[in-house]
Amino acid sequence: MGGGLPRRTLPTGWPYAGAMTTTPVGSAAELSAMLASTGYLADEGLSTVGYLALAMERPLLLEGEPGTGKTAMAEALAEAFSLPLIRLQCYEGIEASQALYDWDFTAQILHLRSVEAGGGDLTAAELENSLYDERFLLARPVLKALQQSPAVLLIDEIDRADDEFEAFLLEVLSTYQVSIPEFGTVKASTPPLVVLTSNRTRDLHDALKRRCLYHWIDHPGLAREVEIVRTRLPQVPALLAEQVVRAVQQIRSSENIMKPPGVAETLDWARALHLLGSPDLDLASAAASIGALCKYREDTERVSAALARMLG
Ligand SMILES: Nc1ncnc2c1ncn2[C@@H]1O[C@H](COP(=O)(O)OP(=O)(O)O)[C@@H](O)[C@H]1O
Ligand SMILES: [Mg+2]
Repeated sequence: MGGGLPRRTLPTGWPYAGAMTTTPVGSAAELSAMLASTGYLADEGLSTVGYLALAMERPLLLEGEPGTGKTAMAEALAEAFSLPLIRLQCYEGIEASQALYDWDFTAQILHLRSVEAGGGDLTAAELENSLYDERFLLARPVLKALQQSPAVLLIDEIDRADDEFEAFLLEVLSTYQVSIPEFGTVKASTPPLVVLTSNRTRDLHDALKRRCLYHWIDHPGLAREVEIVRTRLPQVPALLAEQVVRAVQQIRSSENIMKPPGVAETLDWARALHLLGSPDLDLASAAASIGALCKYREDTERVSAALARMLG
């Protein structure tokens, strides 16, 4: 279909064209400061690989346990550089048509009908051509990012998608262009900054990894996690923040927990305790708010016992 149609290259890059022709930061330290200004506290390893991804125009692949700030890193990058954040949430069975583009079939049919009703003196080829017009093109996140770039494209939880989808993404990430058979080629004038995240429920392909700069995000150390709580929840008193982080770090390192709490749980728990009016962490308030920390019955029991030993 559409073999004889003209090839068009879309003008891309609006409305930010030319805004980001060179690396927008000069060093990892500078990037770290910009991220911090949005409330995201990256350690040296992450800010270094982030800086390199920007400077080398390569996708950034972040792996780590849930709740270690992978998604938040992409959000912080977009905010720091005032770029649009375009997000593709991956799931099992996701297909290229959900990631790239689709044709608005209903609108195409309506268009056909109205041409027919108008007595249509178009030739068959002209009619077909008019069906594959930009106004019938539904841009999904990846295409949108190529059109709008400079932008941050977040491909979230890629490990949920299947193998074929990964292969397809690799192609897009290698060329930053997409060809639509009926329409033409869309190429980003500036490559978007791509952040891929994975919770590592399965291993990704070497080919995809080779394309990216890789970083494993660990749970933060004590001092940085306290700082994260203080930054994200300035209303929580310093003493409570520190006690919560100490307790979470101890729980995290114990071996018999099904789902070790991430930074997300630390933040939730600190907020819950504060909402319950606890000036500091005691056994009663910890027991009352444990649902913010543990999401498995077995963990709730084990953590309650551990907290009793810690606080009792
Ligand atoms: N380094 C960090 N600085 C500030 N906030 C963080 C940091 N790491 C995690 N968070 C916060 O923890 C929560 C969970 O992070 P998220 O990005 O959703 O985790 P992931 O995507 O790795 O599962 C978010 O509210 C996020 O803002
Ligand atoms: Mg996430």
